Amino acid sequence: MKFKQLGLLCLCGCLLASAAYGAAKSEPAKPAKAKTMAELAAKYDSKSCEECHPDVYEQWQKSIHSRSLLGTGRTAPTILTAIDMGIKKFPYSGVKEDKDLEVRHFMLCAKCHLPQIDEASDEVVREIIATIRAWQKEDNDAKREELEKKISSVNIGCMVCHNKKAIIHKWADGYPQPDTVYGSKAGKHEHPKFDKMAKAPALGESIFCGQCHGSGPNFELDEPSQCATLYGSYLFAYVPEGGHESCQQCHMKKSGLGHDMEAYRSEAMRKMAVKTEVDGRALFWRKNKKEGVVPMGIINVELLNKAGHVIPDG
Ligand code: HEC
Ligand code: HEC
Ligand code: HEC
Ligand code: HEC
Ligand code: HEC
Repeated sequence: MKFKQLGLLCLCGCLLASAAYGAAKSEPAKPAKAKTMAELAAKYDSKSCEECHPDVYEQWQKSIHSRSLLGTGRTAPTILTAIDMGIKKFPYSGVKEDKDLEVRHFMLCAKCHLPQIDEASDEVVREIIATIRAWQKEDNDAKREELEKKISSVNIGCMVCHNKKAIIHKWADGYPQPDTVYGSKAGKHEHPKFDKMAKAPALGESIFCGQCHGSGPNFELDEPSQCATLYGSYLFAYVPEGGHESCQQCHMKKSGLGHDMEAYRSEAMRKMAVKTEVDGRALFWRKNKKEGVVPMGIINVELLNKAGHVIPDG
């Protein structure tokens, strides 16, 4: 009996000790869910980072991450198509009208286009969809721009990458904390809300981008969707061929674009994309008596994809 008690004490002691040690890294309590787009936007607002990180902010604003529900303008309409032609027509989705939409339905796209939607209530999903519908119908330029701003107010902002998605192996490295920005160092951070800095071990590695850039069907969803699969091609084609650069090396460093992660719309990326070899020669061909000598040109073009993955993706 005595031994048993001792054993129990030891076990509790160990658990307590590890809890104390891991206090700043264990899973934080879930905060109340955002009830409006404005609340969700405020929670992930990147504006407060601009003052001290102006260059990063400007680069990020140019990138498509800063308008991840609009993209080039094609994403928002495609989300509506997925809802109207897919989700509403599936017999077991539970969705007949927009008012039936819940966060779990929107996850088909939001898993990567707006992962923080899991911190919002179902009403926010309905508000986003209503805003996209209003934007599509609007003829007045000024009003359209207002709606466009509202759609882009929820996006892949600084704290989506530097907090929410920053830690990949949460059991090993700990859960992201609500008062911390994650980067390459630990210490104090001069921000009223995020006053700590901590290390995110994989932020500089391809797997970090892979969380959203897709490796195939999203099997963890009740209704798997597939959009981007570029990370899959990075892993299964580029790396086995001997490729050893990371997404960050090509897109942020070699390109000189930093946080303006871009594709072929940027000249720097176009220049890095393909190696072209062209070889041409002239030839004279005696065809027949009537037509005589026909001049011909032979051109050999060899194109080599130098990107770290398939192009184009999707
Ligand atoms: C009042 C100024 C200030 C504001 C506002 C601010 N930062 Fe910082 N931040 C700094 C300074 C200064 C450092 C560098 C600290 C050091 O090197 O010791 C830093 C460092 C960082 C780092 C770590 C960089 C690295 O090399 O790993 C990240 C990530 C970061 N900030 C993100 C943000 C985000 C996201 C926001 C907005 C939510 C923000 N910061 C707002 C001043 C600020
Ligand atoms: C939280 C999810 C998420 C993370 C993390 C993420 N991305 Fe993205 N990224 C997206 C989404 C979603 C889009 C497309 C938005 C659209 O067009 O609608 C995108 C777009 C891009 C584009 C532009 C593609 C184009 O066609 O113009 C590039 C380049 C890119 N990301 C690179 C990166 C790199 C490099 C990393 C890692 C450092 C990264 N992304 C991390 C979600 C993410
Ligand atoms: C696995 C993550 C992921 C999921 C899930 C996902 N997307 Fe994407 N999507 C991306 C990324 C990353 C890009 C941009 C880069 C690329 O094409 O490689 C993108 C690009 C797009 C584009 C082209 C964007 C443009 O600006 O031209 C459209 C349209 C799109 N997604 C719509 C959707 C819709 C609709 C859904 C839901 C049915 C969805 N996506 C689900 C990650 C995802
Ligand atoms: C799509 C993901 C993503 C978004 C969005 C993002 N970052 Fe980063 N950030 C990174 C990655 C990845 C690195 C590290 C690059 C490396 O180590 O190779 C980084 C590095 C940094 C650094 C340290 C080094 C540097 O480049 O200056 C700071 C500071 C920083 N980010 C601040 C910000 C701020 C502020 C915002 C919003 C305006 C922001 N980041 C948005 C992914 C992101
Ligand atoms: C060896 C350099 C290199 C590496 C490594 C690399 N990329 Fe790229 N990537 C490029 C170049 C160059 C382009 C421009 C070609 C294009 O857009 O078609 C590009 C284009 C893209 C695009 C747009 C694809 C499209 O449909 O046009 C996305 C998204 C992207 N990269 C994300 C990533 C992510 C995420 C990783 C890591 C998993 C990564 N890249 C690794 C060089 C690289």
